[in-house]
Amino acid sequence: MELIIASNYDEMSRLAADKIALCLKDKPECVLGLATGSTPIGLYAQLVEDFQNGKISFARATTFNLDEYRGLDPQHNQSYRYFMQKNLFDHVDVELEKTHVPDGANSDAQAACDAYEKGIEEAGGIDLQLLGLGHNGHIGFNEPDDSFPVGTHVVDLTESTINANSRLFDSIDEVPRQAYTMGVGTIMKARSILVVASGADKAQIVRDAFFGPVTPQVPASVLQLHPDVTVIVDAEAGSLCA
Ligand code: F6R
Repeated sequence: MELIIASNYDEMSRLAADKIALCLKDKPECVLGLATGSTPIGLYAQLVEDFQNGKISFARATTFNLDEYRGLDPQHNQSYRYFMQKNLFDHVDVELEKTHVPDGANSDAQAACDAYEKGIEEAGGIDLQLLGLGHNGHIGFNEPDDSFPVGTHVVDLTESTINANSRLFDSIDEVPRQAYTMGVGTIMKARSILVVASGADKAQIVRDAFFGPVTPQVPASVLQLHPDVTVIVDAEAGSLCA
């Protein structure tokens, strides 16, 4: 594992975007695994700028997102599909049909999960998987548990996640109760992994995940066993690792 401590959020975003840009240049037909959340917003903005400056192209790339709410229309402004369109896909030359987000509107959960795993395999597997880090060490929607979930699956959102998310919806009844997520096994199959984390509130979990014991109680700790992981954090998130 390589840990890079950037001086601030902008530098973290620039370094992480450079890593994705390099992947696109080395292998224009690469398969990228993407994440939502607040941490990658800056790096997506950098990638859009690189595209606008003619430095990179997504024209031959394929993307698979980590997760999506179940039962939420892709047009809903809280769906992860909407997030990806707004922050990246609408601004670059990626082909829409080569961008994949779990189908939150599919009522057959098992079929949706199986199709997602199959889609990743048929695309040749993920070359570079981008991950954010939850405060409890979650990656995707893989929360602390007694074992590591393997493939793409449905998760029940915890009461605290539902309450936290309710600020983004008109009422708490609208907040989805479930989500689709790649499993830890799906993530570990990616050929390389890039983790980003920023802010003092992530300092403890960065240390626990990458320098503590490997345990499903801290799902991201499993990444210590992956042969090609780069962790890029800002100075605050890296303050307990320096
Ligand atoms: C997003 C995802 C989540 C986030 C994590 C960190 O697709 O899968 O695991 O990466 O919750 O979120 P932020 O970046 O908002 O702190």
